[in-house]
Amino acid sequence: MSTLSALQKLDAEHHLHPFTNHADMHRAGTHILTEAQGVWLHDHTGRRLLDGLAGLWAVNVGYGRRELISAVTKQMERLCYYPSFFNSTTEPAIQLAAKLSGLAPGRLHHAMFCNSGSEANETALKLIRAYWKLRGQPGRVKIITREFAYHGVTLATTSMTGLPSCNLPFDLPLPGFIHVPGPHAYAANRENDREGHGRWCIEETERVIQSEGPETIGAIFAEPVQGAGGVIPPPPGYLTALRALARKYGILFVADEVITGFGRLGAWFASDLWKLDPDLMCLAKGLTSGYLPLGATMVADDIADVLIHGGYLAHGFTYSGHPTSCAVALANIGVIENDKLIERVRDDVGPYFQAKLRSFAGHPAVGEVRGEGLIGALDLIPRAGKAALKPDMLLGIKAANLARAGGVIVRGIRDLVAAAPPLTITHEEIDFLFAAVGTALDRLWD
Ligand SMILES: Cc1ncc(COP(=O)(O)O)c(C=O)c1O
Repeated sequence: MSTLSALQKLDAEHHLHPFTNHADMHRAGTHILTEAQGVWLHDHTGRRLLDGLAGLWAVNVGYGRRELISAVTKQMERLCYYPSFFNSTTEPAIQLAAKLSGLAPGRLHHAMFCNSGSEANETALKLIRAYWKLRGQPGRVKIITREFAYHGVTLATTSMTGLPSCNLPFDLPLPGFIHVPGPHAYAANRENDREGHGRWCIEETERVIQSEGPETIGAIFAEPVQGAGGVIPPPPGYLTALRALARKYGILFVADEVITGFGRLGAWFASDLWKLDPDLMCLAKGLTSGYLPLGATMVADDIADVLIHGGYLAHGFTYSGHPTSCAVALANIGVIENDKLIERVRDDVGPYFQAKLRSFAGHPAVGEVRGEGLIGALDLIPRAGKAALKPDMLLGIKAANLARAGGVIVRGIRDLVAAAPPLTITHEEIDFLFAAVGTALDRLWD
């Protein structure tokens, strides 16, 4: 094995990382992970760390599961790859589409596969454009998303993302991508009236729909719980009202369940919890627990029907429905079912995790606690209080670095720390996670 410093040197010389300040990373030295089992990672120095973020909100069944590994090797030995273009496909792609059709909420009985969450949203965008054109309404090209949304990194999905840090460096959004207020009461200083803030967001969204012209809007995309934007659960009544608004104006409603799918909230999908009956639903991450790249865009029967009868559908990737990725997704879903991980999050580790998270509500460095199921965030404040926060304080980044030094990986986002561990995490491991977070917060103001 190469030495740590040799690898760090090669990394600095040749590897451009996603979402990274390279100068900072090169100064500190890249953190190189080597192996993992369950919720535990090992790094190149031999240190053991608890992965409180499931990789990147993805490794729902935990690391090192034999069922998934053997599904990969078996499929690779049989048929490592074949595309689904031009009237062909493979058995795992068919079986996975059928399986997802059985699990997905409402009318979502069709799956189009891709490789990532960004591509699942990008695919949804293109299917929606094709659908409206086929329906004789080609003017419905505008897309509504919310501030604090994260939908991916392609040109179009960055345009949907409602985070200036993602938009500004690339001069995005593109024209036609409209951002309405996101239901983030704490950021709007309305944390004592979350419901009222949610109602205001809906009123603003309706005002925007009317001023843009409903006949020009193709779809509203929404993460049921906004993730990378800061773990923002919806205020009471908000999602139901947003769904109703889309219906009122004949606008398609897309649930981006890239994080919330496959058990993170104690249900197969957040759309089940809030009865969203989406027209399309985007999946990735927990679909394979990150063992291999795979995304899926689930499409409602009425929309699929139009596309199926609409002639040649000129969309798809070389690896759409990759048989090995589909085989590992089937094995992953099998583990979620056999180990009853959905029920485990709903009835056991989810409530335990939320109770531990909420015990930080009285901590002097904590401005707000947010969470749902097995995802949570602590928004942090400086000694002088919330009003003294400044954009360059980045308290979340500082806290996440302190937690990592204490053996736990959580994500720092602006002034908050976010956690979303594998669904297999135990009570003892949750205790370990929050003990390290607590130590980090106690040292935040040093
Ligand atoms: C809700 C949501 N949508 C889309 C994406 C993009 O997924 P990917 O990074 O696989 O392209 C993410 C990634 O974090 C996400 O959280």
